[in-house]
Amino acid sequence: MHIDPLERKWAYISLGIAALFVSVILFDALFHGVNAPSNVETIDSARLHLSEEFAEDNLGVQVDDNGNIIVRMVAGRYSFFPKHITVPADTPLKFRWASIDVLHGVHMPMTNMSTMIVPGYVSEVNTVLPKPGDYPFLCNEYCGLGHNHMWSKVTVVAKQHWTPPAANKPEGDLNDE
Ligand code: CUA
Repeated sequence: MHIDPLERKWAYISLGIAALFVSVILFDALFHGVNAPSNVETIDSARLHLSEEFAEDNLGVQVDDNGNIIVRMVAGRYSFFPKHITVPADTPLKFRWASIDVLHGVHMPMTNMSTMIVPGYVSEVNTVLPKPGDYPFLCNEYCGLGHNHMWSKVTVVAKQHWTPPAANKPEGDLNDE
């Protein structure tokens, strides 16, 4: 098959650009820890209220046996639940998100909290919130007519003013990540 030299040249250039993009993605994934936001951990969104981890009693801020702070939240049209949480500043926080219905996103301005919440998957975000104050969680994926009004409130308080919530979960579950 005859290929015009000029055409061949452009074919090599476009293949080269594609190869460059793939290597940038691979480099970020392997060396900068940039991963797909879903955490690739699956969950049955239709049975979330029955699941151990995301049952209503289990939502919100918890401290596990090792002193790690884990925040479990659920996104559903049109809010994030619980509607209001209080967390300490300057402390590592692990957020775990699940959707009860459609695709949502969560964004907290000026922080690294920005992820899609895909039905069927658990989204995990590790963050440290440096400054005390009131912040919003905003939905940043179009999820229906009420999308613009989908938000909830986060209060960040100074470390020394934060009291851990009373343990409200049965012994020995959910701590093995
Ligand atoms: Cu939820 Cu937009």
